[in-house]
Amino acid sequence: MDPDGVDGRSGVEGVDGVCGVAAVPDPDYAVSAEFYDLLQAETDRRQAARWFAGPAGRARAAIVDLGAGTGIVTEVLLAASAVPVHAVEPSAAMRVGLLGRLARLGAEDRARVTVHPVRVESAGLCGVADLVVASNVLACLAPPDRRAVWRAVASALLPGGLLLFDPPPTGVPPPAERAWEIGPVRVGPDRYTATVRLTPDGGVLRSTYTYRVERDGCPLREEAVEFRLWPARPGELAEELAAAGLRPVPAPAAGLTAARR
Ligand SMILES: C[S@@+](CC[C@H](N)C(=O)[O-])C[C@H]1O[C@@H](n2cnc3c(N)ncnc32)[C@H](O)[C@@H]1O
Repeated sequence: MDPDGVDGRSGVEGVDGVCGVAAVPDPDYAVSAEFYDLLQAETDRRQAARWFAGPAGRARAAIVDLGAGTGIVTEVLLAASAVPVHAVEPSAAMRVGLLGRLARLGAEDRARVTVHPVRVESAGLCGVADLVVASNVLACLAPPDRRAVWRAVASALLPGGLLLFDPPPTGVPPPAERAWEIGPVRVGPDRYTATVRLTPDGGVLRSTYTYRVERDGCPLREEAVEFRLWPARPGELAEELAAAGLRPVPAPAAGLTAARR
């Protein structure tokens, strides 16, 4: 790796005093995809099982996994259900993980999955599903994109069908930085971590992920990316959902928001 920074990015002083690379936007998850499963799969899989296994088991038509990513949630949905699953994932980098995961499944499970390599607004899903789940997706959508997603969800759902998602943050917290670490996870001699920082930036939150790989205590690689998180108040979400023909209903689990067509 270029010791001066990835792809020639200039070094900056990180909050923890370690010299790092400047964070760049990662809209297509081209950087994050490499680290996603190693650092997040186990925690996210347990959460997906808590949130979605019950509703997936009650699905009778089909399930849409909106923003399937590397397929962590898709695999939970397949294990818990007996219906077709539509995995909608526009990022090629994330689909590497998704297809790799599907390749390790049995042929029977794999036969139930349709991978849509586009945004849900372009997937042409119309009246196919009685359950749509979107895990860790909505916060990253700007309000116009979020509203377009509600319309696509309403189109994909059968009458009475259920939408489940973890909602965006309700507001931008006071201008103090919050930071936490994911990992470490060891791969042979190497130690992988990510430091996540949330920084208020006008009306949005900047979420910065700094991925680090160390060998024998020495930095081997560092990559830093940032995503924008768009807050939405619950009332605002309810209005948007209603405008798309979706009726907010009580959620089956803490941390989720639910709506029915
Ligand atoms: C943070 S990842 C979450 C992946 C997965 N749901 C999980 O929890 O592991 C968000 C994913 O949503 C996808 N995404 C963003 N906008 C989308 C849209 N309009 N339609 C479908 N997927 C979208 C991104 O490409 C990304 O892979």
